[in-house]
Amino acid sequence: MKSDIRIDAARFYDLNPDFPKDVPFYQALIPSPEARILELGCGTGRVTISLFPFCRLIHGIDLSSAMVELCRLKVENANIPANKVIISEGSITDFSFNQRFDLIIAPFRVLQNLETDSEVEGFFRCIREHLTSEGTCILNVFKPSFSPDVLREQWVVPGERLNWEISTERGRVSCFDRRIRVDKEHLVIYPDLIYRRYQGRTITEEVVLHLAMRCYYPETFEKLIIEHGFEIVNRWGGYNGEKYGEGPELVLRFRLGA
Ligand SMILES: C[S@@+](CC[C@H](N)C(=O)[O-])C[C@H]1O[C@@H](n2cnc3c(N)ncnc32)[C@H](O)[C@@H]1O
Repeated sequence: MKSDIRIDAARFYDLNPDFPKDVPFYQALIPSPEARILELGCGTGRVTISLFPFCRLIHGIDLSSAMVELCRLKVENANIPANKVIISEGSITDFSFNQRFDLIIAPFRVLQNLETDSEVEGFFRCIREHLTSEGTCILNVFKPSFSPDVLREQWVVPGERLNWEISTERGRVSCFDRRIRVDKEHLVIYPDLIYRRYQGRTITEEVVLHLAMRCYYPETFEKLIIEHGFEIVNRWGGYNGEKYGEGPELVLRFRLGA
């Protein structure tokens, strides 16, 4: 298993002021208060914690021990009954919970962290093995703003760009990104996220997260899901009513194929 790439960066994750406004979207798609939900790549529980009051149980899984630790702390602090939220450390490409779920979600582009075909295969196999016959799964990726050719040739640029900046009790925190390299064959981009904490103008802390994000386009994302034996039920282009292919995100809801 890979070592935890988020070991130092996890504590900066929840500071991001620019998360997609996706929580009401997922809440609205919980089929009933009795639903069992599986959340793939639950991270620090940003979505998990907001969904638990509306379902019977939610089981989150994440590879990062640091993210899982923060998530479990939030669950503990929220006094959530232990049988309502379960958080497991493990890979979403290879797990078995001996249980099926009415709704499977992987919010905030989790699928894109899977770089290789075999990881993607494992991911869809696990979804197939954990979805009820009536259940649905919702996956999301960002819609690339460049064509594949432009992405291949022009995505890498020198220098850093500011993503966000906030004030905290322990000083200002900024998040920059660096565009390091592209796998031109598989369309995987490799951005670094650089978190810096300042006291005045002095940097007091710096942490770099090396990310991999596999890119999908509206047609390739749909094809990927259909090729893995599923039927698409809904398509969205974002969380504000955008049409599929016309907004900043690609969001698909699907069920087991006939
Ligand atoms: C962008 S974060 C999203 C976290 C959360 N879903 C949210 O919406 O805030 C991506 C998460 O996916 C997890 N992840 C990436 N690859 C994974 C894998 N193979 N197995 C389990 N979790 C993985 C990361 O550890 C990270 O917590």
